[in-house]
Amino acid sequence: MTAKSNPVSARAGIAGLGFYVPQRVLSNRDLEKMVETSDEWIRTRTGIVERHIAGQGEGTSDLSAEAARRALADARMKAEDIDLIIAATTTPDMPLPSCACFIQEKIGAKNAAAFDLGAACAGFVYALVAAEQFVKTGFYRNVLVIGADVISSFIDWTDRSTCVLFGDGAGAAILTPAGSGGILSSVLGSDGHYTDLLKISAGGSKMPASPETVTHKDHYLKMSGSEVFKLAVRGMAEAVNEALEKAGVKKEEVKCLIPHQANQRIIDAVVERMGFPKEKVFVNLQKYGNTSSASCAIALCEAVQEGKIKKKDKIVLATFGSGLVWGAMVMEW
Ligand code: UT7
Repeated sequence: MTAKSNPVSARAGIAGLGFYVPQRVLSNRDLEKMVETSDEWIRTRTGIVERHIAGQGEGTSDLSAEAARRALADARMKAEDIDLIIAATTTPDMPLPSCACFIQEKIGAKNAAAFDLGAACAGFVYALVAAEQFVKTGFYRNVLVIGADVISSFIDWTDRSTCVLFGDGAGAAILTPAGSGGILSSVLGSDGHYTDLLKISAGGSKMPASPETVTHKDHYLKMSGSEVFKLAVRGMAEAVNEALEKAGVKKEEVKCLIPHQANQRIIDAVVERMGFPKEKVFVNLQKYGNTSSASCAIALCEAVQEGKIKKKDKIVLATFGSGLVWGAMVMEW
């Protein structure tokens, strides 16, 4: 697909949203039978009650395609209308080809260009910002932005410090030139000093798969939870404040804050640090756990479906993840 010459647009906005989570539900009670943990510990330390886990052979592109179909229906668009697909994921179906190409084929977006973007749990906001640039310059008109992960494939199901935290899912948004509202400001950041805090060591170019990497469980996600916790609180609060300042929007004007859904205690600490009212924060992590790149996308979609966000409302997205990376975005709905 080559670039069309569309008019330059002042702003880009979301024309449709959709999300999908796999059928299988894994509850805290189920986890009690797998590792030494308790429903009480998981609820009080994280707020998570259950999460959805992909079935055998169900990949990130399968979840993404269903979320994309729902977003297309919401936007009343056909797959052929999509000019570009950006799939934010750290768990593509395979290293090559990109997850975005599999999604393109599954939904029949035959006129689209397609690529993946890796920014871990901040992926959805990173991808929205990337898509915004294509739309605002007129390079593309309709961009399908997806945040999706099947992180369960990289979880050590004998490691209680990580296996209780995550779930699988996909969220999709269609970004187009905005008649009114749209993206008002965004802030992206990263600090590669902290690459060791949350990582999957093997399976890449530096440490390809070998019998040793399998024996040492190097293909699984490892995390220094409490350090990530502290940096997440500071990183998200600062990014949100910066994005609000950039947009010239006061926090009192914000109708809904959609934070990355990793841990209720992280969210509580962020809003306390910012002096933001708790009742304006959307939380759904109790149902899905941390769905990584999909987290903010699913939460945004559910908040809209539940009527928590209405036309003209000012909202803020806040994300944080492995890298470390972070991103915040202020939008008018
Ligand atoms: O998407 C961004 C990436 N991820 C995150 O944002 C996650 C950030 N971190 C966190 O959410 C929290 O740090 C955790 C939920 C991972 C852990 O909470 P914590 O309050 O930092 O607990 P901790 O790691 O300090 O562990 C406290 C205790 C330990 O026992 P001892 O050493 O005090 O005896 C752990 O062994 O809790 C134990 N523990 C568990 N106990 C029961 C750790 N995991 C579990 C578990 N069940 N699943």
